[in-house]
Amino acid sequence: MNVKPIGIFDSGVGGTSIWKEIHALMPHEDTIYLADSKNAPYGQKTREEIIKLSVKNTELLLVRRCKLIVVACNTATTNAISHLREKYDVPFIGIEPAIKPAALNSGTGTVGVLATKGTLSSSLFLKTSKDHASEIRIVEREGVGLVPLIEAGKINSTETRLLLIRYITPMLEANMDHIVLGCTHYPYLIPVLREILPPHVNIIDCGAAVAKQTLAVLKKFNLQNLKKSPGNAQFYTNTDIEVLTLFLEDVDNTKQISYLNF
Ligand code: DGL
Repeated sequence: MNVKPIGIFDSGVGGTSIWKEIHALMPHEDTIYLADSKNAPYGQKTREEIIKLSVKNTELLLVRRCKLIVVACNTATTNAISHLREKYDVPFIGIEPAIKPAALNSGTGTVGVLATKGTLSSSLFLKTSKDHASEIRIVEREGVGLVPLIEAGKINSTETRLLLIRYITPMLEANMDHIVLGCTHYPYLIPVLREILPPHVNIIDCGAAVAKQTLAVLKKFNLQNLKKSPGNAQFYTNTDIEVLTLFLEDVDNTKQISYLNF
């Protein structure tokens, strides 16, 4: 039994898609979420900058006594998680584009991957593609501009829709039947994507798998919080709380959303 909180961070509001999966699977766990929206998007930054920001977020969570940290950001995971694991003692859970299940289930042999520049250019992404998708064709696109639009709450805007159409068209022309969402902000685009994509294209998002892995690691290290009451959820953003609040509208009222200068 361990009553300390789980720490979660992302470059902004996107990682709340992971927080929701974690909360659904482990409602009794206390959580602290950091939205580093002031520094979003991470996807266009250098590896060194991404590591520096990830260290800053991790230290803030460790000061708040987190027992495990979920890097709820593909860009931070693919660029910084090995550094974090070397530097700190707590367990880290990361997220990276789920190419493996897409490759295994693809009938056409073509899979689309929509992710940030930081993720697509990382050595971890290249290794995963080589290890699990060498037999299939991957059509990658950097989702330039999507994270800032989501951070501005403009999910249903014409601008977002047009960008998505632009990024997805070459994937469809190459006959993809699976599209991997390689950024934790993108699950919020699923309703728009579903309208744009033909019905036979499967959308792969591995948020639920990250939550399962988190639970498995908590169990392995005997870190689960076995209390019966609902977990306390604290969310911190270093910009206006309005957008984060919007993304958490569907979350019950045990949450606290605050501004923090970090
Ligand atoms: N949610 C981050 C990810 O999963 C967004 C990256 C960014 O800020 O560019 O990659």
